[in-house]
Amino acid sequence: MPGNQSWQRYDWRRSYAWNYARFPEPASIEVPRVAGSWEYCGLPVDSPLGVPAGPLLNRGWCLYYASLGFDVLTYKTVRSRSHGCYDLPNLQPVEVMQPLTGGESRLSACDMMHGSWAVSFGMPSRSPDEWRADVEQTRNELPQGKLLSVSVVATTQPGWSIKEVAEDYALCARWAVDSGADCVETNFSCPNVSTCDGQLYQEPDAAGYVASTVRQAIGNVPYIIKVGHLRTRVTGEGLLDAVAPYADAIAMTNSIATTVQNTDRKLLFDGQKRGICGAAISAASIEQTHWMCQLIGQREENVRLIGVGGVRSLVEVNAYMDAGAHAVQLATAAMMDPEIGLRLRRAMAHDTWRSRRIS
Ligand SMILES: Cc1cc2nc3c(=O)[nH]c(=O)nc-3n(C[C@H](O)[C@H](O)[C@H](O)COP(=O)(O)O)c2cc1C
Repeated sequence: MPGNQSWQRYDWRRSYAWNYARFPEPASIEVPRVAGSWEYCGLPVDSPLGVPAGPLLNRGWCLYYASLGFDVLTYKTVRSRSHGCYDLPNLQPVEVMQPLTGGESRLSACDMMHGSWAVSFGMPSRSPDEWRADVEQTRNELPQGKLLSVSVVATTQPGWSIKEVAEDYALCARWAVDSGADCVETNFSCPNVSTCDGQLYQEPDAAGYVASTVRQAIGNVPYIIKVGHLRTRVTGEGLLDAVAPYADAIAMTNSIATTVQNTDRKLLFDGQKRGICGAAISAASIEQTHWMCQLIGQREENVRLIGVGGVRSLVEVNAYMDAGAHAVQLATAAMMDPEIGLRLRRAMAHDTWRSRRIS
């Protein structure tokens, strides 16, 4: 039972393939109901709590976290062809003295996980045949009240035009919908890849073009765009104007990118930046959610926000929702502490939380 049980975790010292093959069984446990009624991009759902693209490698991981109180399950980003994973470390804990602002150029690696890490997978993907069958089975086995969102990315080839990139995103998005996904998310923000799909959120025209192509491919299915840390409001304005006609929601933020050094001051990851995720990014991400919400209000756009980054207690859940997020998702904290969804739900079942949220 809660408190006494040790929940199986993703083994962050081991590879993507190792963890892919060793998903836990769903937990048999009563999950507290969250007060109020909720929607995710217009679809009814039991709570605003979800897991973003990353920890849920396949059906087994989706069903496990669904059983632990998460209602929006985002299937880890998939592609139009199979794609390998970067070498270990895929997850490198880092020392962080103060909340990241995006101005940092270098962090130090450490052995123990204290709440933040550099993420370095390179968005591996199983072949479309494999992930499409797995998505279909996942949707069939997810209980009512839960939503399956599938994250997709283009696999940019040398010399591709933005039209080809957009078509590859759209192909994956369509496949996800055909396989039963309730929502589709396009990742416009992977700091760990050097191709243009990793930085689309910084290029409003390209982002808008891809978003319009994806929208055409998926009809009315709820569509989320995942973005990274925006250094200026001006970039945010451009991005919002470009994607608002097509997207139901923007999820922020993916991470904050820096280089990472070891104890000898030697740079890891061949000196390339990696996305820092976890506690260190919550302040910057909540702030970005806040000002993006203001921009949406000023423009009277009908775009929702999804708060991602550093959520580890009810404090961050409330802060994201106060900043304007309609849903909140946890990756790092849920990986380190799978029971966190149950604890959050116990607090969110409480009348005082309900009146705070719906008053
Ligand atoms: C293990 C891991 C894998 C991730 N893989 C993806 C991915 O495939 N696609 C994506 O859009 N984001 C990915 N992310 C980023 C998360 O979706 C999320 O934006 C980030 O971890 C910040 O949330 P957190 O602070 O709760 O971890 C990954 C994060 C982690 C920790």
